[in-house]
Amino acid sequence: MTGAVEIRNLTVRYAGATALDDVSLTVPPHGLTALIGANGAGKSTLVKALCGLIRPDRGTITVGGRIAHVPEGREMFGDMTVDDNLRLGAWRSRRRDTAAVYDLFPDLTALRARRAGNLSGGQQQMVAIGRALMADPDILVIDELSLGLAP
Ligand SMILES: Nc1ncnc2c1ncn2[C@@H]1O[C@H](COP(=O)(O)OP(=O)(O)OP(=O)(O)O)[C@@H](O)[C@H]1O
Ligand SMILES: [Mg+2]
Repeated sequence: MTGAVEIRNLTVRYAGATALDDVSLTVPPHGLTALIGANGAGKSTLVKALCGLIRPDRGTITVGGRIAHVPEGREMFGDMTVDDNLRLGAWRSRRRDTAAVYDLFPDLTALRARRAGNLSGGQQQMVAIGRALMADPDILVIDELSLGLAP
């Protein structure tokens, strides 16, 4: 394996419609890699297959480390607090301390006891990224990185 992620000949179909057709790519082990494409091109489908949320019809995916996923649309646990949403991200890493996330996104500090579902879109995006970071991943996969965020 030469990259953080190796995808070979990936094909994904939804009820007969082909969303990904024989896709191969390598993500280098360091830095930031962007996957760009038109609406409906298959970016989210590729991300979901990479994170194990959907099963490919064909092909192989090899991941060189622990992966965490920020889904398109954030998918907060809306009735839970910001802090509890962050803690849920650590269900496997068993990390307890959310302080590093509040250091990264100081705007969240005052919101930590608020219901996540009532936050603004950009605030929810910060929680979604923070929640993924709580898993202590080697690879962070963000579907729509800047969704609702101020520069
Ligand atoms: N659950 C599903 N069932 C059927 N078709 C689907 C499903 N999810 C996605 N598709 C179709 O698969 C194709 C790829 O969708 P996908 O969500 O991967 O695109 P995308 O590149 O992430 O687009 P966007 O930029 O709008 O987020 C589209 O034609 C879409 O309509
Ligand atoms: Mg998408």
